[in-house]
Amino acid sequence: MYRNHTCGELRITDAGRDVRLAGWVQRIRKMGGMTFLDLRDRYGITQIVFNQDSDAGLCEAANALGREFVVEITGAVRERSSKNPHLATGDIEIEAKGLRILNPSDVPPFTIEDNTDGGDDLRMKFRYLDLRRPSVRANLELRHRMAFEIRRYLDANGFLEIETPILVKSTPEGARDFVVPSRMNPGEFYALPQSPQLFKQLLMVSGMDRYFQLAKCFRDEDLRADRQPEFTQVDCEMSFVEQEDVINMFEGLVKHIFKYVKGIEFAEPFRRMTWKEAMEKYGSDKPDLRFGMEFQDLTEEAQGHGFSVADDAELVIGIVAKGCAGYTRKQIDALTDYVKRPQVGAKGLIWVKHEEDGSVKSSVNKFYDEETLRRWCEKAGAGKGDLLLVMTGERAKVRKQMCELRLKLGDDLGLRPKDVFVPLWVVDFPLFEWDEETQRYYAMHHPFTAPNPEDIPLLRTDTGAVRATAYDIVVNGVELGGGSIRIHDAQLQDTMFELLGFTPEKAKEQFGFLMEAFRYGAPPHGGLALGFDRFVSMLAGEDTIRDVIAFPKNNSGRDMMNESPSPIDPAQLEELNLRLDLRQS
Ligand code: AMO
Repeated sequence: MYRNHTCGELRITDAGRDVRLAGWVQRIRKMGGMTFLDLRDRYGITQIVFNQDSDAGLCEAANALGREFVVEITGAVRERSSKNPHLATGDIEIEAKGLRILNPSDVPPFTIEDNTDGGDDLRMKFRYLDLRRPSVRANLELRHRMAFEIRRYLDANGFLEIETPILVKSTPEGARDFVVPSRMNPGEFYALPQSPQLFKQLLMVSGMDRYFQLAKCFRDEDLRADRQPEFTQVDCEMSFVEQEDVINMFEGLVKHIFKYVKGIEFAEPFRRMTWKEAMEKYGSDKPDLRFGMEFQDLTEEAQGHGFSVADDAELVIGIVAKGCAGYTRKQIDALTDYVKRPQVGAKGLIWVKHEEDGSVKSSVNKFYDEETLRRWCEKAGAGKGDLLLVMTGERAKVRKQMCELRLKLGDDLGLRPKDVFVPLWVVDFPLFEWDEETQRYYAMHHPFTAPNPEDIPLLRTDTGAVRATAYDIVVNGVELGGGSIRIHDAQLQDTMFELLGFTPEKAKEQFGFLMEAFRYGAPPHGGLALGFDRFVSMLAGEDTIRDVIAFPKNNSGRDMMNESPSPIDPAQLEELNLRLDLRQS
């Protein structure tokens, strides 16, 4: 037996007991004739004391230990003279009687502590050491707890956990596919699933009624803080449901997780907002509702005063930064620089200060008299002491830019606390999205999403105006998940493919099996998928999902630890019947 206790469990009530612990050497300190060792495992840290006077040999052995050595300690629990209130085991220490080195360790490349000296790349290269740090470990513990609670809730609601294949057929679903060559079928490829979408719909045709899966998904897309090339979805599907049923079921799941994992109870139903309202008020389909600062339309007030920046614009909108009329030139310049960055792309920023003394100052005094600017303030709700920030431009663009500014101000003004959670359902998404470049419609969600029944007559006449029966769950400005009611009628699905520019042949080639399945009695069905990594990172208070994934990839899609992707052996290529002819890039 290596141990009979963990490093996190001994308390003052254990004083006098002989124990055996095993773990890693966190720290060694020599003080006078004593050596103190902090022994660490997953459960905590326990202090071990070696006394020169009582056993010089043992003390010497302890002095020779290095950081991260794996050791087994035997000894007696005793009360500490100077207690450590920051440690669960801080009232006791172990008076060492025996020490066995189970494995020595090289000096680790960074300190295994929450505030480590290791940079990002180094920590990713030695991720197994990074995972020894308590904060990272706590994230994986949280992830486990959430997965467990998700299963508990869904099981209680009759969902079956069913695995779907990882080697699938390539279908265009928005992102690029990762593909895998088939050795047994030369020249043919599998794709890794971007999501189990088609399989879960087929499971509904099979009569499984309620399906879920903690599903690995793979998307070859540009990576960001909230995007990994492989990530996990809580993927769900239900039969004989309408939008309201799905929303209720998964609102219940989100509430369950908050309650049992975070101790937060939401008494009220989550807020709902149409996509249109979200775009108009926040310039985003995933508004952060931890704070207000809604957009105010000032187009009418701003146009017709000889100011071409406003006159030529499709839309003039403003937001109010409460109590910020005192912003200095430098602070306003910083905001202007922020919106002018290529990532935001605004041409400029107009400011109007409603001073404490009631006067109004602005960057556009040349074009507007004080009375007009006062009207702007009134309409926008900018009272004394407030700062009104205004942007102009094309409708969609200026909304997006203002959204960035709103979030930046929210950050600057401390309006986005990490421990406050404001959930929201965004509903009534458009079914289609027009792409200027290719001059065609794309499915905003995916091609299997049902139109809002009221809008079916518009499918051919006013395609862009058709609303989908699709919904997203958004928390604190993060799209946590999304789903839809699906088309279960083969004819409507055909119309959808046609509107999306698929020829019947192409549709058959890509989705023939689904269309065929629909001929054998597909029940009405719908579902949703939650981004599990995003959900965990939000509850962990992390800014990137990388921090809640055991072995993540970096922003270039590389695993720094095992150095993948990597070239493969020519013999392996040969076996796959492949020859590389890489284009120079
Ligand atoms: P969607 O594409 O909206 O829907 O994905 C669902 C949720 O998955 C998360 N997500 C990601 N998380 C990390 N890295 C990524 N690259 C990534 N991409 C998406 C998001 C998102 O809300 N089959 C549909 C669901 C359905 O209709 O039932 C689907 O995949 O949190």
